[in-house]
Amino acid sequence: MRSPGAVVASVLVAVVSLTWAAGAASPYASAAEHTRHRSNTSRDVPRVGPAPIAMGDAGGATPRPSVWIRPDGAPLRVVAHRGASLVAPENTLVGDEAARRGGAWWIESDVQPSRDGVPHVLHDSTVDRTTDGRGAIRDLTAAELRGLDAGSWFGAQYAGQHLPTLAAQLEDLSTRGGNLLLEIKGPHTRRQVARIITEIRSHRMTDRVLVQSFDVNALRHTRELAPELALGLLRGTLDADPVAVSKELSLTSYNPSDAALADRPAVVGDLHDAGVAVTVWTVDTATRWRALLAAGVDAVITNRPAELSGWNAARLAARASPWRTATRTGPPVL
Ligand code: G3P
Ligand code: CA
Repeated sequence: MRSPGAVVASVLVAVVSLTWAAGAASPYASAAEHTRHRSNTSRDVPRVGPAPIAMGDAGGATPRPSVWIRPDGAPLRVVAHRGASLVAPENTLVGDEAARRGGAWWIESDVQPSRDGVPHVLHDSTVDRTTDGRGAIRDLTAAELRGLDAGSWFGAQYAGQHLPTLAAQLEDLSTRGGNLLLEIKGPHTRRQVARIITEIRSHRMTDRVLVQSFDVNALRHTRELAPELALGLLRGTLDADPVAVSKELSLTSYNPSDAALADRPAVVGDLHDAGVAVTVWTVDTATRWRALLAAGVDAVITNRPAELSGWNAARLAARASPWRTATRTGPPVL
């Protein structure tokens, strides 16, 4: 039987860990930094981002610990794939809100340019599946995209949801809370990447966005244009030497598919030793969450963010609970 003091300490550890999972732990190096951030925002924004990190963590001889790497005992960071895409239309603001309410403070979204160069949040190369329109996004203007309904295909209650511009999504996140794992989808010119960066900077969201892509050139453009932004490389198969690739691209996070990492989970330790976090996609089962937690993975992109948040909470509660030893034989009698 643990002492009341030990129980309280365990609960505090659990609360702190859960707060980290939500990205809501005080991520600032100092109170002054916190104040500076707040003075940069026009509203009282829920604090949801990790501390700004020094770029090139993976490139030095002695990498510094990255705030993106999960502390021992902390839960998996939850990243909602295209928002809460099982319960709301993907890549919409209502999907982001559903993700937040489900406990996920990281949203994964895809960004692509319209014909006139405005970054929009859309996964497919056409608007056919997720709106009432037709055509390739890169052939449609922002005005044409603005008129589309991006909610009705999912459910009548979502009628009128817009296909968001990146600017609209960033504005929403900056006011309602949340962080963005932003996938630059498909090839982008340097100019197109520059437009994305302009939006991120103008919304003062550089410390709350991690840019990821399968496209190495998009990451190189981002690094050149915005050295302050954290970068992640998406991979469907593991590189022979993920650490070398991470150093070369100054990655903050190496982001393999679940299947790819399952072949060689030991690379997580190698990447951590180099100061690089590991974010895995797209994982929806508790069996795999358990395996990834054990492998030391930092963040999981999932279509089931509320369930992963609950799974995290249940694990922490079980660890902290004074009743834990009684669960084998049923609840304790008071
Ligand atoms: O974030 C990784 C994952 O989103 C990549 O796959 O096709 O859903 O963009 P996809
Ligand atoms: Ca994606």
